[in-house]
Amino acid sequence: MARKKFLMGNWKMNHTIAEAIRFCEDVKNDSLLKIARSKGVLLGVAPSFLSLQQVKRHAHGLIVASQDCHYEDHGAYTSSVSVPMLNEIGINWSIIGHSERRTYDNDTSFVCNRKIKTLVKNGFHVVYCVGETLKEYEEGLTKDIVKEQILVGLMNVSKEDISKIVIAYEPVWSIGTGKNASSEIAEDVCSYIRSLIEKLYGKVAASKILILYGGSVKPNNIHEYLLQENVDGALVGGASLKSESFKELLENI
Ligand code: 13P
Repeated sequence: MARKKFLMGNWKMNHTIAEAIRFCEDVKNDSLLKIARSKGVLLGVAPSFLSLQQVKRHAHGLIVASQDCHYEDHGAYTSSVSVPMLNEIGINWSIIGHSERRTYDNDTSFVCNRKIKTLVKNGFHVVYCVGETLKEYEEGLTKDIVKEQILVGLMNVSKEDISKIVIAYEPVWSIGTGKNASSEIAEDVCSYIRSLIEKLYGKVAASKILILYGGSVKPNNIHEYLLQENVDGALVGGASLKSESFKELLENI
């Protein structure tokens, strides 16, 4: 069975609540979900924690994900947000392991693993981000890095729960730089990720899991990524912020 396509916008630290609501209204007025359905595309956004509740309320069917969460349910972790807190406001998707969190907040693959296990235990879907730095890329270490991130990040995630995971390959050197990886690189690494999933979880799980590419995806280049056999969608930062551009991304899939 053909896999669905998935377009997710990661808004990072952008959009006030008012701006986020306006985006949702534009999505509704432009019938983006209707377009997405007709193309077999899942559509989602990941707003700031502060906007989640309002975006969920105005989402009109969009998948709404948090950009992170804590692995503990509660406790002395100033500024953190737990899975039960997200659950309470109707959120059941979360991005984990984004390179900005790995870089600035020391989210190692081990920390990501704890978060992923808490999330799937609570019935959440996870977009787990992996990818190498420029130095690692130049040293030819891409697959070693991605392998460590997958093996550690998914440690003790069961065969049943792997169906709740989406993997996003985001080479760090391509994020927000305009230097997008070629579609050949994206396909090479995404097919490698699928082969890792096959080794860990078997053929059926590997054939079903969605694997996204992220890093300087724009309306004018999204199509070439989505043409690749093992690229099932895109995780988009900058180009997902304006509803017009989000619409163009969708139209060009
Ligand atoms: P850009 O699309 O702005 O390069 O960001 C990619 C990204 O980090 C999505 O998570």
